[in-house]
Amino acid sequence: MEFWHIRGGKRLTGACPIQGSKNASLPILAASIVCPARTELTEVPRLRDVDAALRILRHLGCRAEQQGNAVYIDSGLCSRSTIPHALMEEMRSSVIFLGALIARCGEARMSLPGGCQLGKRPIDLHLAALRQLGAEIEQNGDEIVCRGGRLRGTRIALPFPSVGATENVMLAACAAEGETTLCGAAREPEITALQDYLRAMGAHIRGAGTERIVIEGMEPTGRVCARIPPDRIVAATMACAAAATGGDVELRGVDVQQFSAVVHFLNRAGCDIISRKRSLRILAPSRLRAVGEILTAPFPGFPTDAQPVLMAALLRSRGKTRITETIFENRFRQVPELCRLGADIRVIDRVAEIRGVERLHGATLTAGDLRGGAAMILAGLAAEGETLVRDKGHITRGYEALDQRLRELGADVEMKN
Ligand code: UD1
Repeated sequence: MEFWHIRGGKRLTGACPIQGSKNASLPILAASIVCPARTELTEVPRLRDVDAALRILRHLGCRAEQQGNAVYIDSGLCSRSTIPHALMEEMRSSVIFLGALIARCGEARMSLPGGCQLGKRPIDLHLAALRQLGAEIEQNGDEIVCRGGRLRGTRIALPFPSVGATENVMLAACAAEGETTLCGAAREPEITALQDYLRAMGAHIRGAGTERIVIEGMEPTGRVCARIPPDRIVAATMACAAAATGGDVELRGVDVQQFSAVVHFLNRAGCDIISRKRSLRILAPSRLRAVGEILTAPFPGFPTDAQPVLMAALLRSRGKTRITETIFENRFRQVPELCRLGADIRVIDRVAEIRGVERLHGATLTAGDLRGGAAMILAGLAAEGETLVRDKGHITRGYEALDQRLRELGADVEMKN
């Protein structure tokens, strides 16, 4: 158990570097086995989920280690195609090893992935798309078994732009004979990062960032160097932390386009935004304004992952904001905990209505998932007095040294195991 002690009421000021992206790193780590290659990655955040992916790679027979923010992988000796349940259950992104193993070994056996409990999180779209490529996949209860099948390029249309399904198709299609066209693909920046990595590996692939991705196969280069892009959700979290505390914070090394949907609402809430090429400064008023309606949506819409942290920033706003969560059915788990701090939030089905209150007071909260946990820390920063957030390790799955980053901005936060 991790305990986050927060003494709230401090205005955050200063500059903050932004870590590399978790959601870009994990699919790229899975992609490192698509063909035998030596991979060197920089700006990989030190996170529990990255650790879990490295353990899966080692289990499969690869050499894989992290030194600081660099990761070195040699996938030449990848010799297994089975991933045990204990490794699969650690995170959601382990399911991307399915497409990677199908590309490399033509077969795979694994259990359903773990990850944050945000609702049902099925993988039917992943399996249907991989089957269209020719993979013979069976699901027996919790186990997924792919026993081979000849992979042939084809036209696949996703009925919803699933990020995970898009990634699985991109990886498996690298080993297919002929051309694969994926229509209705996810357009998230992490898809573009994966395409960049696969290209460096020798894949002929184009279209990431649009809804149509074309994969023509692979001529392995044997050696890949790639830099992980900045984490847009961590950037959104730090921007919301500044906004929640009436702060003045400069985010360094960010790609502003990648979280402009969040910046848009912070601006509407009364924050001044100074945007430069690789940095963003947020100057927040002492109390934000409510922003009306927010709807989560696939990229470039408002990201579901930023919903809990923006909610935390708006708890002390003037007026009423309604957030409709369209991606996951159970993504308001932070709400009852935030209400312990004196927040006024009502949830009906997939809509949360936040009525801003003048003051929040400290309380003891329990984190139930990664971004919800981050929201509780932000709310604690905005509350008067002491807040304790108890967490079974969800927050450190996605944030690197969050306590230290916040302290550097003047927050009174300590994290103890
Ligand atoms: C989602 C987010 C992604 C975020 C990640 C981590 C979206 C669109 N995706 O990706 O930005 O980084 O969580 O928190 O916001 N679905 C199915 N069947 C499937 C796959 C998905 O019905 O086979 C549905 C899910 O139930 C859910 C939605 O599609 O409603 C989520 O889509 P998906 O993009 O696949 O989720 P993740 O890949 O986990």
